[in-house]
Amino acid sequence: MSPYAHITGWGMAVPSKVLTNSDLEKMVDTDDAWIQSRTGIRQRHIANEEESTATLAKDAALNALRVANLNPADIELIIVSTSSPEHVFPATACLVQDRIGATHAGAFDLSAACSGFIFALNMATQAIRSGSIHNAVVIGAETLSRFVDWEDRNTCILFGDGAGAFVLQAGDEPGGVLSAVMRSDGSGGDLLSVPAGGSFMPTSADTILNKQHTIHMNGREVFRFATRVIAQATREAVASAQLKLEDVQLVIPHQANLRIIEAAMRGLEIPIDQCFINIERYGNTSTASIPIATCEAIQQGRLQSGDNTVFVGFGAGLTWGAAMVRWTGPFLPHRHIYPTSYRLWVAVRSQLLRLVRRIEGWIWGRNI
Ligand code: ACO
Repeated sequence: MSPYAHITGWGMAVPSKVLTNSDLEKMVDTDDAWIQSRTGIRQRHIANEEESTATLAKDAALNALRVANLNPADIELIIVSTSSPEHVFPATACLVQDRIGATHAGAFDLSAACSGFIFALNMATQAIRSGSIHNAVVIGAETLSRFVDWEDRNTCILFGDGAGAFVLQAGDEPGGVLSAVMRSDGSGGDLLSVPAGGSFMPTSADTILNKQHTIHMNGREVFRFATRVIAQATREAVASAQLKLEDVQLVIPHQANLRIIEAAMRGLEIPIDQCFINIERYGNTSTASIPIATCEAIQQGRLQSGDNTVFVGFGAGLTWGAAMVRWTGPFLPHRHIYPTSYRLWVAVRSQLLRLVRRIEGWIWGRNI
């Protein structure tokens, strides 16, 4: 029988710098009352110069490993879902693999915008269910503040930075990720995009001058799309797990706009207090919003072992998806693991590997 993919660890990391709506009032023509009433957002966290998508992802992953009581060397797969990677390549996931010391893991990035965490969760689940791996870390991490036009009031009020991570482990007991749906509609790609910087429109003086490297969005169309697909994907994920909406204890939606969440819950006839919302403190952290919200739901006692919960997201692409999960919690610990204590060893190991490469290059006359 196929093993089940249980979520046994969770962690989050957000930058310490907070940008409030009143701070934004000084930057663009907007006001706190407008932002709160149209989006539900009061503040968001913004990365400083030392922070990046990989540093936030690494911190979230280490926190998740600590909860799961799992050694980084036991991880076989790392997926970082992000739309704000450190580079075109190498993958941000490889930087995280090196920094947490996951010496036996394959690592890659997944790009599906705000739906990315659901897609990554499903990919890791399938790898576990097929029997090819036992332990995976799935991370949603963003520093979209680096892609925001801070003079565009339509978009700069929305986004925040952060990361969230889950540890997934194989187990024979039924539970964990029970079903998932993933959908895309590329005909809506132009509704939400960063037009330049890829192979279609490489960086040039013109692309910089015309602000083509920042987020461009048709907010009203994205809003209409989102309210429709959240309800649809939730229904599909619940049905394919052979459950009913009444069996769901908690919905954890992508935190893009409070009004989108309220409209979708009305459509599903699910009371809003059965839905976890923390957008007021973080804004839209894109693919990181679902795991960050999950960490806070657990902290507040809103999500407990045995609960049926739906994760549902939507985003650029267009993409959308949902996962139906029976929450597990950590497997019983057989040993005490402190992943953060590996930091020094991991840093030394990484430097040693670089040094060996240099020495080899020097011996063989290669320029490294
Ligand atoms: N402050 C004050 N006024 C503003 C602001 C602002 N920050 N932004 C827009 N306005 C004005 C507009 O100019 C417009 O004025 P006008 O009527 O004189 O033209 C008026 O407010 C209404 O504008 P709308 O765009 O209709 O405002 P709406 O109620 O639709 O809210 C918003 C805009 C918040 C962007 C909403 O459309 C939305 O949240 N859409 C979804 C966006 C989203 O979720 N994106 C992320 C997707 S996930 C991912 O993949 C990254």
